[in-house]
Amino acid sequence: MNFEFTDEQLMIQAAARDFAQERIVPVAAQFDASGEFPIDTVREMGELGLMGIEVPAIYGGAGMDSVSYALAMIEICAADAAHGTIMSVNNSLFCHGILSHGTEQQKQQFVRPVASGEAIGAYALTEPQSGSDAANMRVRAVASGDGSEYVINGKKSWITSGPVADYVVLFAVTDPEQGSKGISAFLIDTSEPGFHRGKTEPKLGIRASATCEIELEDYRCPAACRLGGEGEGFKIAMGVLDAGRIGIASQAVGIARAAYQATVDYVCERKAFGRPIGTFQMTQSKIADMKTRLQAAELLTLKAAWAKTKAEGGDRRYTVDSAMAKLFASEAAMFITHQAVQIHGGMGYSKEMPVERYFRDAKITEIYEGTSEIQRMVISRVETGLR
Ligand code: CAA
Repeated sequence: MNFEFTDEQLMIQAAARDFAQERIVPVAAQFDASGEFPIDTVREMGELGLMGIEVPAIYGGAGMDSVSYALAMIEICAADAAHGTIMSVNNSLFCHGILSHGTEQQKQQFVRPVASGEAIGAYALTEPQSGSDAANMRVRAVASGDGSEYVINGKKSWITSGPVADYVVLFAVTDPEQGSKGISAFLIDTSEPGFHRGKTEPKLGIRASATCEIELEDYRCPAACRLGGEGEGFKIAMGVLDAGRIGIASQAVGIARAAYQATVDYVCERKAFGRPIGTFQMTQSKIADMKTRLQAAELLTLKAAWAKTKAEGGDRRYTVDSAMAKLFASEAAMFITHQAVQIHGGMGYSKEMPVERYFRDAKITEIYEGTSEIQRMVISRVETGLR
C-alpha cells in the first residue's frame, strides 16, 4: 500500500491550494453574504483546468485521475464550499456522464465548453415530488413520429447552477409503463425555446452556488442529443451520482479541514482562566475526535477516488466506496464544524469569522446527491443483496 501522491497529483493540489487561498478566500464571505454567483473566479478556475480535471485534453480538460480531482476539490472547498459545488457539478455531474455514455459529437459540443470553464453545466434529476425516490419522476419526453426529436414537458427542482447553466443533463420519462427502465437522458441547450428558469432557492449555506427550478415547455430536443439509449437514463443517472458523491465527500473534507485548522489556531491563542483553552482536557478531547474523523473521512474519500480510477473503462462499480465516503465525510464535516463553533464560543457564532459559514455549508453535504439515509440504503442493499 502506498500513501504517497504522484507528482501530477501534488501539482494540481498545489495549484488549487494557491488559487483558493489567493483568489477565493478573500471574496468567500462577500459572496456568501450577497448570494451572487462568483462568475469571475469560476472562469479563472476553468482556465486553470479545474472545471474538467478528469476530462481528456482532446475534450478541453486537464486529463488527470480521480485522486487529483478529489485533492483539488478539497483545496477549493477549504476556501469556499460554494465554489466547490459549482466545480463538482461541472466536473462530475455534467462531464462524467457524457464522457461515459456520449457520442463523439456530444463530447465535442457539450463537454468541451464546460470542461474548459467557458460554459456552466447542470444536472436535472430531482422534481418537486421526487427527491430520494428519483425514479418517480414525471417530466415527460415524447418522441416525434419520425424519431428525429423529442418534445419535453415538465418541471425539475433544486437544480444546482440552474440559474446560470448553459447546458443541462436532464432525465425524463420516455416510457411510463417501464418504471426506472422507462427513463432516458437528454442534453439540453438552455438558449433554445421552451427552456425556462423558475424561482431561485434562498439557501442556508453554499449561498453563492445558484439553485433554481427549471421548466420545459414543449422543448424540442434533437434525437442526436439523447444521451445513451432510450430507457438507459436511470442507470446513467445512478452511475453519475457514484462519481458525484466522491466530489461531495471531498467537499465535506475540505470544509471540515478548514474548520479544524481554524480551531487548532484558536485553542492555542485563546486564553481562559489564565491559560490557552487547548490545555483543558475537554478541549483536547474535542480536538482529538475532530482530527481522527477528519483523517478517516479523507482516507475513505481518497480510497473511493482510487476505486473510481481502477474501475474506469471496465464493468466494475465503485458504488459502495463512494456512498461510504460521502456518508462518513458529510457526517464528519457536521461533527467537526459543530465542535468548531462550540470551541469558538461567541466568535464561532459571529459572521466576523468563517467558522459559522463552515457550519452552514457543511449541512448540505448530508443532503444533496443522496441523503445520508439513502447512502446507508445503497451500502446495505449492495452488501446484503436484500432490498
Ligand atoms: N450504477 C448503475 N446502475 C445502478 C446503480 C448504479 N450506481 N444503482 C442502481 N442501478 C440500477 C439497478 O441495478 C437497477 O437496474 P436492474 O433492474 O437492471 O438491476 C436500476 O438501476 C434501478 O435500481 P433500483 O431498483 O435500486 O432503484 P430504486 O428506485 O430502488 O432507487 C436509489 C435507488 C438508490 C434510492 C436511488 O433512487 C437514489 O440514489 N436516490 C437518491 C437520488 C439522489 O441522489 N438525488 C440527488 C439529486 S442530484 C443533486 O443533488 C445534485 C446537486 O444538487 C449538486
